[in-house]
Amino acid sequence: MITVNEKEKVFHLNNGRISYLFYVMESGQLGHLYFGKVLNPGGSYLHMVEKAHRPMTTYINEGDLYTSYEHLRQEYPCYGTSDYRYPALEIQGGDGSRICRIEYQGYEIIKGKKPLSGLPATYTEEEDEAATLEIRMKDAWRNLEVILSYSIFRDVDAIARSVKFVNNGKEDLMINRAMSMSVDMPDADYQSLQLSGAWARERAVKVRDLEPGFTGVSSMRGNSSHQHNPFLALKRKNTTESSGEAYGFSLVYSGNFLAQAEVDNYQVLRVMLGINPFGFSWNLEPGETFVTPEAVMVYSDEGLNGMSIQFHRLYRKRLARGFWRDKERPVLINNWEATQFDYVEEDLLKFAGKAKECGIELFVLDDGWFGERNDDKRGLGDWKANREKLPGGIEGLSEKIEALGMKFGLWFEPEMVNKDSDFFRQHPDYIIQTPGRSVSHGRNQFVLDFSRKEVVDAVYEQMYELLSKAKISYIKWDMNRSISECYSSAYPAKRQGEIFHRYILGVYALHERLIKEFPELLIESCSSGGGRFDAGMLYYAPQGWVSDDSDAVERLKIQYGTSFVYPLSCMGAHVSACPNEQVGRRTPIETRGNVAYTGAFGYELDLNKLNNEEIEVVKEQVEFYRKNRKFIAAGDFYRLLSPFEGNFAAWEIAEPDGSRALVTVTRILSEINGAYRRLPLRGLLKNRKYHIQSKYISYDAYGDELMQFGLMLEDKSSGQVIDGSGGCQDFLSLIYEISAK
Ligand code: GLA
Repeated sequence: MITVNEKEKVFHLNNGRISYLFYVMESGQLGHLYFGKVLNPGGSYLHMVEKAHRPMTTYINEGDLYTSYEHLRQEYPCYGTSDYRYPALEIQGGDGSRICRIEYQGYEIIKGKKPLSGLPATYTEEEDEAATLEIRMKDAWRNLEVILSYSIFRDVDAIARSVKFVNNGKEDLMINRAMSMSVDMPDADYQSLQLSGAWARERAVKVRDLEPGFTGVSSMRGNSSHQHNPFLALKRKNTTESSGEAYGFSLVYSGNFLAQAEVDNYQVLRVMLGINPFGFSWNLEPGETFVTPEAVMVYSDEGLNGMSIQFHRLYRKRLARGFWRDKERPVLINNWEATQFDYVEEDLLKFAGKAKECGIELFVLDDGWFGERNDDKRGLGDWKANREKLPGGIEGLSEKIEALGMKFGLWFEPEMVNKDSDFFRQHPDYIIQTPGRSVSHGRNQFVLDFSRKEVVDAVYEQMYELLSKAKISYIKWDMNRSISECYSSAYPAKRQGEIFHRYILGVYALHERLIKEFPELLIESCSSGGGRFDAGMLYYAPQGWVSDDSDAVERLKIQYGTSFVYPLSCMGAHVSACPNEQVGRRTPIETRGNVAYTGAFGYELDLNKLNNEEIEVVKEQVEFYRKNRKFIAAGDFYRLLSPFEGNFAAWEIAEPDGSRALVTVTRILSEINGAYRRLPLRGLLKNRKYHIQSKYISYDAYGDELMQFGLMLEDKSSGQVIDGSGGCQDFLSLIYEISAK
């Protein structure tokens, strides 16, 4: 998968479907040649280098009026020598100089892929699933070694990149900017696509035309954020979900990030992704190494959905890991929206008992079970059961839940503390704060300084105590505020730029320890819903709570946007009560179920409050999900109608071999006397006959008809009240099961 033209010093990564090419320039810097659909491995590609003499340019060699880094497409651009675009790397030496020039030293090809120490990363299980190219570069003047690593996957159209720095010199170096990847694309005729939003409306799809200057998204919050996801895609203007070129760039990281596209005045496009340089610096002492997080680049000529399917395949199987990766996820019920902080053990047992009756497999006890936690002003940090609420502690409750025939799960917010807690009273110095300045709170809570090992250890010990004694099969790991006044009293002044990154390394280290100690524990990540829903977390927690907004109509958009990068297996999606807690909307229970099926399914309400008819629906839903969950988690996901663009949302899950599909169609508002509707499907076999079954229709058709002419949506959806039962038919959703005959 990796070929090297030794004479021309051209490196070609190629898996038969995508190619990535770069070369060593005469100056020793690396130049970028190509990233996209596969090119012939035998070709010679140096003629792709474009350079021209242009006015007002700075050239690197005296007497030469052509060679300027400003006009050469580069592979990992450094600051300071004739390139005026934003660099991937900026290093400052003891002399104060920020100039850096890294030159090629050699390369190594490795079978498979190496892990990134302390960081989440994609991996291989067998050596021939991927090949890795490591390019050794050096800034001779500073004696800094820079190793650029590229892994190309055999079965997925993705390349994973990271960069390692080794200070072989005698003086400290300050890394001010070290992006995980940079690509200089030969034209800028693209639109960028980002996933942006806010609390309760995460990951909305936003598309903009690229123009000279910058386009990008970032986080400076310490978590990847509700506001912007660490991801950026590029698409041609005519690219659709199913056709045309699309590039996706995803960062496997949960902290501050920057994803940026810069168009220069000659229409050259530089894309980069990595730790946000704002607020970041890393003091690299002689002998020390620093490794960037991993960036994953995907190319597809089958549209945006083609790009998403590549991410899903890689992230589901070779980023998520461990005991639960391929296992059927339990149908869970969580008590948060039903009870908030107000419950005692008896209530919980009734709550769980009813859930068991409906076939639910896991009861999750959310916030409020520990310390003096009767509201959100106190208790965080004291991870011991509140005996007034739970007389037998977590041990007692978990045994009772297991006796009911269910598994037991527990909520934690390990990174946080309230000032009103024993933990804070014992360790007031454990929070992130800048000495002498006031410290802001979020939801009355403060952030523990996870850049310090002793702080992480103290939290681990409390968690270990519970997890080793009680029957806990699952934890929901929450994180309900961003970091402010970032400073750690444990580090010297020159290391304060490291704290945000060290904090995330501390979070990862705690995850790793828990996974090692309790390998069968299922972890669901959460951050006030989807505030840290990123590829980094997916390495530790195979599922995450997509959003605190559990309304089925809002979830159409949130889950649709999330699916651009993340597989269904990781999207926590629950049926909640009506009227909905966040938006007050009333939706049919069938619609709530249909939307929540497309993820790691569960409930977020008190089933004792439902009537008998609704309980019967819940039982059917649980049964339906249990029957289909393996297929839902592993199928190819197709977005068919965007809720961002119209009154309908539709998506399809298809077995990769085309043998079956499940289609969900949701009409948001009722229509009267509207158009006839057909819905072209995807991922079926042209010549195969299928049976189509929904609540209202049943017919047979060949795959070609279903993909070309489309699935017949029943006439009634064109406008009449669909089941004739009267009443409001807003928010109507139907499932179509398509099975090969
Ligand atoms: C966050 C989570 C919710 C719930 C509450 C509990 O908001 O996203 O699901 O766990 O915290 O305080």
